[in-house]
Amino acid sequence: MPLPVPVLPEGVDPAWLPPAAFRAVGGRRTLIRGSGPLVETVHGEVAEACRRFGGRVVRDAEAEGGAHDLVLDLGADAPELLGEEGFTSAREGGTTTVTASGGRGLLYGLFHVVRLGEAAFTGEWARERHHPALALRMLDHWDNVAVHPVMGQVERGYAGGSLFWEDGRARGDLERVRAYARLLAACGINAVAVNNVNVHETEARLLTDRIGEVAAIADVLRPYGVRTHLSVSFAAPVVLGGLPTADPLDEAVRGWWAEATRAVYAAIPDFGGYVVKADSEGQPGPFAYGRSHADGANLLADALEPYGGTVHWRAFVYDHCQDWRDRRTDRARAAYDHFVPLDGAFAANAVLQVKHGPIDFQVREPVSPLIGAMPGTPLAVELQATQEYTGQQRHVCWLGPMWSEVLRFRHQPESSVGELARGGLIAVSNAGDDPFWTGHPLAQANLYTFGRLAWRPDAEPGEVLDEWIRLTFGPGPEAGLHAVLDGSWRTYEKYTAPLGVGFMVQPGHHYGPSVDGYEYSPWGTYHFADRDGIGVDRSVATGTGYAGQYAKPWAELYESPDTCPDELLLFFHHVSYGHTLHSGKTVIQHIYDTHFEGVAEVEEAREVWASLAGLVDPERHARVAERYEEQLRGAREWRDQINSYFLRKSGVPDELGRRIY
Ligand code: GCU
Repeated sequence: MPLPVPVLPEGVDPAWLPPAAFRAVGGRRTLIRGSGPLVETVHGEVAEACRRFGGRVVRDAEAEGGAHDLVLDLGADAPELLGEEGFTSAREGGTTTVTASGGRGLLYGLFHVVRLGEAAFTGEWARERHHPALALRMLDHWDNVAVHPVMGQVERGYAGGSLFWEDGRARGDLERVRAYARLLAACGINAVAVNNVNVHETEARLLTDRIGEVAAIADVLRPYGVRTHLSVSFAAPVVLGGLPTADPLDEAVRGWWAEATRAVYAAIPDFGGYVVKADSEGQPGPFAYGRSHADGANLLADALEPYGGTVHWRAFVYDHCQDWRDRRTDRARAAYDHFVPLDGAFAANAVLQVKHGPIDFQVREPVSPLIGAMPGTPLAVELQATQEYTGQQRHVCWLGPMWSEVLRFRHQPESSVGELARGGLIAVSNAGDDPFWTGHPLAQANLYTFGRLAWRPDAEPGEVLDEWIRLTFGPGPEAGLHAVLDGSWRTYEKYTAPLGVGFMVQPGHHYGPSVDGYEYSPWGTYHFADRDGIGVDRSVATGTGYAGQYAKPWAELYESPDTCPDELLLFFHHVSYGHTLHSGKTVIQHIYDTHFEGVAEVEEAREVWASLAGLVDPERHARVAERYEEQLRGAREWRDQINSYFLRKSGVPDELGRRIY
């Protein structure tokens, strides 16, 4: 039986799967071959498209002799080694053929044809092979089941409540979750962790007595090829099992995890595995028992191993109770210092999940040196789609170019970050129960781009953006949309913290400027501005030594302010305001200029958006227009606080004599 396409609740935005995106497929004659649950999903999709656009779909058994425009073929004898997710596509003699050897491959093949639109049925081409570069393309939802008193339902969520949880339990109606799974499949995402990495009391129980709720969610994600993962508490044997210890080497603890995991798989046979934040920002971990992170990760890896599951062990481990007077401790160093000595000690199904930068998803950070320094450990790279430090989905900030820079970065010539991320690419989700999914309608582009870059880390981000625009908006507003999104990350960088310095945000919620908000705090995020200069000396010669964690070319390049790239200068060095950048400007003049430019660019983008009024659906247009007002207010606030702060500290006037307070 074909699986019916999910019905969007009234008023919910179709995002990148509006009915019109299926016009080309829906108007044609399609033959589907093969069997299995995902073939029914594919059939449901094509049947719905045909219902709308007048085409026809038949299954192998009923196929009459007639010609077909599209053949979707799940052949056991697929020609090449395509795996579960790959597919081929070819067009010959007026028929487009997609072949796959696994159900997910067939579904991805269908969405490939949808993306191509009319081009899928034009001309001829020889067989092309499509295959995801990374096997795991996952979203981490920082969703709480029970509303947390400080963090709310979704930690760092800017898109309303959770898609999965409401009022302390799994939603009864999961139709919207089905629609979400469909959107994820259409951009290649194949896994979701359904709860926050900070595992509070209620959420800890999802692992045991409340696994049925997780299983219900897994049931609706599965037909779109999305697997379910769970964040668990390292202290579970104590808090749930009543054991006196969670020591990873204790036999009773090992037995407890083995039994808990057996029960998880009984409820969810294709369960993906556990995500763990241990010994990080107050979460429990192996340190309490004098054990290493490898001991901790391997405990869970062993429990998951009989079922083919994976533990994603996060490397976000640092001292969050630092004394700001202590200039030797450097938070940027922490992940490398903790984990590099453990290289080779992790089980094959224990993946170390590393944030892309060494601090915490700032608008500009260098690529984490840890990623290039653990050849004997499966690594996953973690990005943040939720815009915690990049405008919180009130500002437009399309992160495609930043992520692409990260994924293409080469610690050493042999391999890029995209190639080193053998354990997958993961993003902290930016979606919630908001009618536009992501609060800011244009933030949908981040979710889509993440999926496509996880499929192909070396894809051109601009092409992915155009793909998203075409699918979501159809013909008409493409140029304007491209213009407001393409440079938005650099614009955001210009009016916020300069030259890689980071963290000049309001403490706690992290929205809006506060230059010294974290300067005398325990979090290890300082800029050290004084009357003479600014920046953190992370050189080996005179600073914290962080620059020395990189492989050769980068260690040398970052070591000296003469060779360090401008955009990271204050991340690596403390320099005077009069220091001349490679751009020829002084640091202080760069700060003034970029802050004025950033605001001007937001004003311009707002105008471009206004000009799209007749070309974009009115609800979307209104929501974005409203957010532009807030973005502009916010950008001016950033400009004026940053410029005034540095004028007052340095006493150096703006060369152009513009208004600074
Ligand atoms: C950031 C964020 C936290 C989150 C943490 C993490 O610090 O502000 O809310 O818990 O990252 O990645 O674990």
